[in-house]
This record gives sequence, structure tokens and C-alpha cells, in this order.
Amino acid sequence: MEKVYVFDTTLRDGEQVPGCQLNTIEKIQVAKALELLGVDVIEAGFPISSPGDFNSVVEISKAVTWPVICALTRAVDKDIEVAAEALKFAKRKRIHTGIGTSDYHIKYKFNSNRDEIIERAIYAVKLSRRYVDDVEFYAEDAGRTDNEYLACVVQAVVDAGATVVNIPDTTGYCFPQEYGAKIKYLIDHVDMKNAILSTHCHQDLGMATANSLAGVLNGARQVEVTINGIGERAGNTSLEEVVMALKSHKELGYETNINTQKIYSTSRLVSALMSMPVQPNKAIVGRNAFAHSSGIHQDGVLKNVQTYEIIDPKDVGIDDNAIVLTARSGRAALKSRLNLLGVQLDNGELDDAYQKFLELADKKKDIKDDDILSMIGRQSKSHRIKVEYLQVTCGVGVRHVASIGLNIAGEHFEASATGNGPVDAAIKAVKRIISRETVIQEFLIQAINRGSDDVGKVHMQVEHKGSLYYGFSANTDIVAASVEAFVDAVNKFAE
Ligand code: KIV
Ligand code: ZN
Repeated sequence: MEKVYVFDTTLRDGEQVPGCQLNTIEKIQVAKALELLGVDVIEAGFPISSPGDFNSVVEISKAVTWPVICALTRAVDKDIEVAAEALKFAKRKRIHTGIGTSDYHIKYKFNSNRDEIIERAIYAVKLSRRYVDDVEFYAEDAGRTDNEYLACVVQAVVDAGATVVNIPDTTGYCFPQEYGAKIKYLIDHVDMKNAILSTHCHQDLGMATANSLAGVLNGARQVEVTINGIGERAGNTSLEEVVMALKSHKELGYETNINTQKIYSTSRLVSALMSMPVQPNKAIVGRNAFAHSSGIHQDGVLKNVQTYEIIDPKDVGIDDNAIVLTARSGRAALKSRLNLLGVQLDNGELDDAYQKFLELADKKKDIKDDDILSMIGRQSKSHRIKVEYLQVTCGVGVRHVASIGLNIAGEHFEASATGNGPVDAAIKAVKRIISRETVIQEFLIQAINRGSDDVGKVHMQVEHKGSLYYGFSANTDIVAASVEAFVDAVNKFAE
């Protein structure tokens, strides 16, 4: 079996998505979960971009032992110096530097020419090598860079000391055979020495996984991926799809270091912390990925599961028989479940989580992993505006009326309103108190598990003065969850 290295960029490319920003503590939780999952490289951030990103790279470097920690830079001296500084505590470290190589980038972004770009690429790699032994170079927009010129760039950076060369399809433009042919062309025309090629495929035309696999089949030995495929615009390549495709097709002869049984919990953790829902029909980790609903399929699966199932759900960590927690479960049981899910909390945080857990267990008989992860996602955010109480009258043939109490920086405010349904009434009441111009642009309610006592997750996008703010909440009462999600978004501009 040939090894394919898994480079996870959830915390860099994924975290660039508006509304997905995590604080340092949350990033450390994700990084530790990625370590347990078995990724080879964690791209922890872009240190020059903000003090927060710098600090996260420092803290992740301290918290994680086994995977290589990678920091992104442009081909700019200051970026490289700052990345090296941020990586100083990493046990194994990599600088990921690069520059645009397509004619679009050379002409319009850099107002430069092909020779100058090669000079800058060589310089950036040599400078990075002064700080670290492991340097990855990215040829941004390689998907639209002509192969002959791309081969010259790759040869130049390998000669300058790059250990990995990343061939990003930055705009998600390539077809699988075109991307595969690009990788093959480079393998055939460049003396790679000991360096390897990496894929980094975006999802704009829905071909990210197909393109990454075409890259591997043609000689790439690293795949750049994110959990749940999150990333700029339509997203990046999903880790779970590439890993399970290679695992399901053993005959191809590739293996990764991923402990696939940790895939589902890592997916839920990232979704909960980033408040980014996973579409129900998402391959591998979507709620319906293993749900057979048509009569013909159900009949076949009951006779022999292999008739319609190519992956055993247990292989990706979905276990219907997983232990559920109840109101009688103690703090130790919660702690051990959280550890299994890749979440480590200190004693104070565990106390808060346990209180929240007991409140939820009062309303819901069996607490599943998703409920716990949503609860953790919620507890990490403490806000200036809090919902103190909410009372709604709703039903058929009645007026929908809501009364709300908000605590704003310690002061109590109340308002009531009527509306076109309980959510509308409650949000109008909130607006009376906060009196800011807001428009709800997106409003999504999802059940987490099954049953009428289930927790509803609400994602909301609220526009204020031309900018979008994202709010999230989870509650067994979906009217309350909707109002909390709205207040969560409002807190982001009212703080
Ligand atoms: O998509 C892209 O080209 C990137 C690079 C910065 C690696 O994310
Ligand atoms: Zn990217």
C-alpha cells in the first residue's frame, strides 16, 4: 500500500469562511480532535493575518504532539518571519509559502511577469528554509496555469529546497481528467528529488473530491482537505470523502493514517463549534448518508446490508447503539464522553458544561453525542445581551404574542409584540429593545436526532448596515432557539 498524507486545512482555509471564525480555545479543541483522527499535517492558520491567528498557531503548536503544524504565508519576507516565530513551539513544523502562477494572477494581481514570479518563488522558499527544514510551496491558481510554465515553477522551487509542492485548483475550475493530467505532466517533467506533490481542490463546480482523487491516481502523495468540506465559497475537498473513497477502493493500493471511526465525531465537533450545519444528504457524514427510506432499498438492506451499503456506518464512527447519557449520568461520564468526542475541558469548564447538561437532561430523556456537542458549541460564547425569559402564545386560531426579557450588560429590559407566528412575534419583541436596523437573510432550523423531544438547531444570518452576522443556538424549544440565534447574531455587532 502507498501512503497518502492527509493535510487538514479546516483551521485555515475552512476558518476563512464568514461566520466560521473560532477563538483560540475552540481551535485547540479542533486541533486535538484532528490529532486523534490521525491527520499528518494541521494547517493551523495564517499568522501575519491577525494577532488572533498568530496566537492560535502558537497555542496549537504547544497543544499538539504528533502532527506537523503548518503556517501559511505569502511570498513576503515579513509573512515568513512571523510564521517562523509562531511555529517556534511546534515539535514538527512546516512553512507553507507561495504565489499566484496563472496569467490572471501574474498580470492582474502582481502586475508582473513569469520570470519575476519564479524569482520570487525561489526567494520565498530559500528564506523559509532558513527557519525550517520542511517547506511547502503553493502555486496559487495552478488549476488555470499552463502546464509547461507550472513545471518550470515546480522545478525551481524543488531545486530551492521545497519538500512539498501544492498544486491548488484555487477556483475549482478543473475537470478530473484535466487535473489528473496536470499532476501526471509534473511527475513526468520535473525532477522531484525527494519532494512530493499535493492536491488542494476547491468545490466551485462540485468536483473537489474527484479532482483530488485524480491527483492521487496520477502521482500526488498529499491531499489538502477540510472536515465537512468547509472552505472559501463552495468549499474545499472533504477529508471524509477522500479518505473513505481510498479505503473503499483498497484495490487501488493507497492508505492513509486516518482512524476512520473518529470521522463522525470530528465532523459533529467542527459543525457545532463553527455553527456550520452539515447538509443532510452530505456524503459520509450527512444525517441521511446511511438512511435507507425507499421500500426496495429497505427490503434489500434487511436481507443483506451489502445490497445497498458500501460502507459500514460503524467504520466512520456512527453507532446507533452508542451509550446515551441521561439525567442520572455523573460528571465523570460526561467528561469521558467528551474526551471520546475529542473535547478536553478544564475543571471550571467541565462544571459549566455539567450544569448545562443537567438542564438539557431535564427536558430530554436521552442525551446523544450531537446534543453534547451543540451544548459545548453554545457554552463557549458568553455574550453581552442574554435572553432572560421568553413567553409566547401560539397555536391555531389564536393571536401570536411574545413577551421577552433581555439582560444587556447587567440591565434588565422587557418588551412584547404580536407577529405572524411565534418566532416573528418574539423577534419583533427583541427588536423593540435593541432598536437596531436588522434583516434576517437566512433562517435554518434542523432537528439533530429523532423524536419529538429532540434538540432543534437554528442557524441565522442577520444583515446589519450592509454586513452579515451569523447566529446559532440549539434548544429543545425551537422558538427559544430561534430567538437565541437571533440574539447571538446581534451580539456580534452590538458588542
Ligand atoms: O486555494 C488556494 O489556492 C489556497 C492557497 C493559499 C494554498 O488556499
Ligand atoms: Zn484554498
